Amino acid sequence: MSPLLAIEDYHLAIPTFDGPARVLDGIDLALDEGETLGIVGESGCGKTVLARSILGIGPGRARRTGGRILFEGRDVGALSERDWRGVRGVKISMIFQDPMTYLNPLFTIGRQLGDAIAAHARAQGATKPGRAERRARAAELLAQVALREPERVLDSYPHQLSGGMRQRVLIALALSGKPRLLIADEPTTALDVTVQAQVLRLLRDLVETLRLTVVMISHDVGAIAALTERVAVMYAGNVVEEGATARVLARPLHPYTRGLLAALPEIDGEIRRLTGVPGTIPSLIDPPSGCRFHPRCPRATAICTTERPAMRRADPVHTVACHHADLA
Ligand SMILES: Nc1ncnc2c1ncn2[C@@H]1O[C@H](COP(=O)(O)OP(=O)(O)OP(=O)(O)O)[C@@H](O)[C@H]1O
Ligand SMILES: [Mg+2]
Repeated sequence: MSPLLAIEDYHLAIPTFDGPARVLDGIDLALDEGETLGIVGESGCGKTVLARSILGIGPGRARRTGGRILFEGRDVGALSERDWRGVRGVKISMIFQDPMTYLNPLFTIGRQLGDAIAAHARAQGATKPGRAERRARAAELLAQVALREPERVLDSYPHQLSGGMRQRVLIALALSGKPRLLIADEPTTALDVTVQAQVLRLLRDLVETLRLTVVMISHDVGAIAALTERVAVMYAGNVVEEGATARVLARPLHPYTRGLLAALPEIDGEIRRLTGVPGTIPSLIDPPSGCRFHPRCPRATAICTTERPAMRRADPVHTVACHHADLA
């Protein structure tokens, strides 16, 4: 059976003043129905650009320069704008860091959920549900994301809600079309610490009860550990390590992953953050030769400056792209 999502040797470049920035450089990832995949890596490594590529909304002038992304076996790069209407927000939905950007400030929550419900009905060729039915279903969706007083929330405008409530509304919107794939890009980063934990718990419950297939992007290793079975570590447009989340966190093989995890401050409640490894992310316009991590790598040798390391299998559930990884 082919995977629900397959990213195959995907390359993406964004034109800049100084030439094309090669922001995704040969990404390979696959996701089966029901799986949960985390993506971690420093700011600027390409996580959001990758997530948006899956949805066909990569930055305006970005160009695919190689490879492809298959969803349900279809190349998303070949979908017409019309085909996309049945996929984006329907079969694949996304939640973002800043819900305010994606909620319309001029309409009540009830109106926005009702519109989404009507749009999904239309996409399925069903008759448009009436006002009362839309409202009832919107209230159900709000209950599903554990919002109390759904009736009051339905009549509220986004600015009348707290950040945590808005994020729950965005999750409800994302789930309204019963998506086959949910992409969550830093869904808790903008929230207060206690609210982060609550939203994370909600997401975990939803993943379990609805058996959601999820790609979760986060700086928060605790969130990745809580929510995902598998994790991919990105560095400067490459996936450098991938595997079962528990395994990768317990026994990271790539020097970059080790640096990331070592850079974690003391565990602070349940929240752990990546603060980064020494050095800065390299230029993507003129990236380092060989392994893109070599200028920052404590283990780099001559080969790292000339040869890009291939993904190698450390064990059945763990792969790493490093010339020097100890593959026991
Ligand atoms: N619209 C754009 N125009 C030019 N460059 C862009 C654009 N969007 C992203 N980039 C570049 O692409 C690279 C990857 O950006 P991306 O937003 O995917 O990083 P990220 O891993 O999501 O970072 P963060 O953790 O900060 O969200 C960065 O070098 C960024 O500067
Ligand atoms: Mg991002």
